[in-house]
Amino acid sequence: MSNKRVVSGIRPTGNVHLGNYLGAIRNSVALQDAHQGFFFIADLHAVTEEYDAKLLAEHTCATAAIYLASGIDATRSTLFVQSHVPAHCGLARVLGSIAPFGLLSRMVQFKDKSERQGAKTCLGLFDYPVLMAADILAYKPELVPVGSDQKQHLELTQQLANRFNKRFGPVFVVPKPLIMQDGARIMSLSDGNSKMSKSEPNDRSRINLLDGADAVKAKVHFAKTDLIKGLEFGNRDRPEVNNLLTIYQLASGKSREHVATECGDMGYGKFKPLLTDALVSYLEPIQTRFARIMGDRAELDAILKQGAERAGVIAEETLKQAMSAMGFAGRT
Ligand code: AMP
Ligand code: TRP
Repeated sequence: MSNKRVVSGIRPTGNVHLGNYLGAIRNSVALQDAHQGFFFIADLHAVTEEYDAKLLAEHTCATAAIYLASGIDATRSTLFVQSHVPAHCGLARVLGSIAPFGLLSRMVQFKDKSERQGAKTCLGLFDYPVLMAADILAYKPELVPVGSDQKQHLELTQQLANRFNKRFGPVFVVPKPLIMQDGARIMSLSDGNSKMSKSEPNDRSRINLLDGADAVKAKVHFAKTDLIKGLEFGNRDRPEVNNLLTIYQLASGKSREHVATECGDMGYGKFKPLLTDALVSYLEPIQTRFARIMGDRAELDAILKQGAERAGVIAEETLKQAMSAMGFAGRT
C-alpha cells in the first residue's frame, strides 16, 4: 500500500446527513484503497457551540458506526475519536503561537457562528481552525477530503504549515483539500440557497443517512420546487431543481448527461418518486450495516481503542518534532 496519507473528520453533532456523505465520507472511503487513511470523530469540535452533554458520547459512537457502515475498513484505515489522541490539543496549542489573530477573526464560519452565539461565543470557536489544522498536520497527509464549506479552513492549515516550516524548519507536509465537484455542497431541501446542515432546526430540510423509506418519501414530497416546466441542471434561478437532480445523479450512480436527458421533460409528479426510490436503495445497505455495527458495542469500542493507539503514535511523534524545532527542551 502507498505510504501517502489522507485525513478527514466529522463532528458528532447529531444525525449525519446526505451532504456529509456525498461531500466527504464517500470520498474518504474511495481514497482508502490507495492511501493510508486516518479518519476521526471530531468531538472536540462539537463542544464549541451549545450542545447536549448527555448525547455527546452516543453521537460519537453513532458517527463512528456511520463511518464503518459507509465502507471505512478498520483493518486498512485508522478510525478514532479526536479527544482520545491528546497530541491534537498539544499541537493546536503550539500552532496557536503562529496563528495570526487577524486571519482567524476573518474566518467565514467563525463570523457566522459567533453572530449566532452572541455573548456565548467562546475561545474554542475562535481557535477551531487551529485545532483543525493540528488534526490534519499531525499526520502529514497528502489529501484532506471535505465539502466546500471547509475550503477556507484548509487554506489556513496550508498557511500555518508553510509559516511554521519557514520559521522553524520542514516539519509539516502542506496538505491539499480534496473537494470533488459533484456533491461538494448539497443544499437544503427547503431552501436551495443554503447548505444542507445538521444545525438547521427543520428536519425536513435534510435527508439523514439513517432516514427510513417513509421519512425519505415524505421529505422528497415536501422538498421545495418551482412551477417551471422541465428539469435542468445549472440554472442559477432554479437552485432547488439543480440540487434535487444532483442528489438523484449521485444516488443513482448515473452520469450527469444521462440524468439531464432522462429528466429533461419530466414534471415533479414523475421525478419525485424516482428520486425517492433511488435514495432508499442508496441508503438501505448503509443502514443495514449501521444496525449490525451498533449491535456490537464491544467490537466498536475495540476498533476505536486500537485506532487511537495507532493514531497516537504518529501524532505524538509529529508533536515532538514540532516542539523540538521550536526549541522546547526535550524530556529525558
Ligand atoms: P460536519 O458535519 O460539519 O462535521 O461536516 C463533515 C463533513 O461534511 C465536512 O467535510 C463538510 O465539509 C461536509 N459537509 C457538511 N455539510 C455538507 C453539505 N451540505 N454538502 C457537502 N458537504 C458537506
Ligand atoms: N471542521 C470540520 C467540519 O466542520 C470537521 C473537521 C475537524 C475536519 N477537523 C478536521 C475535517 C480535519 C477534515 C480534517 O466539517
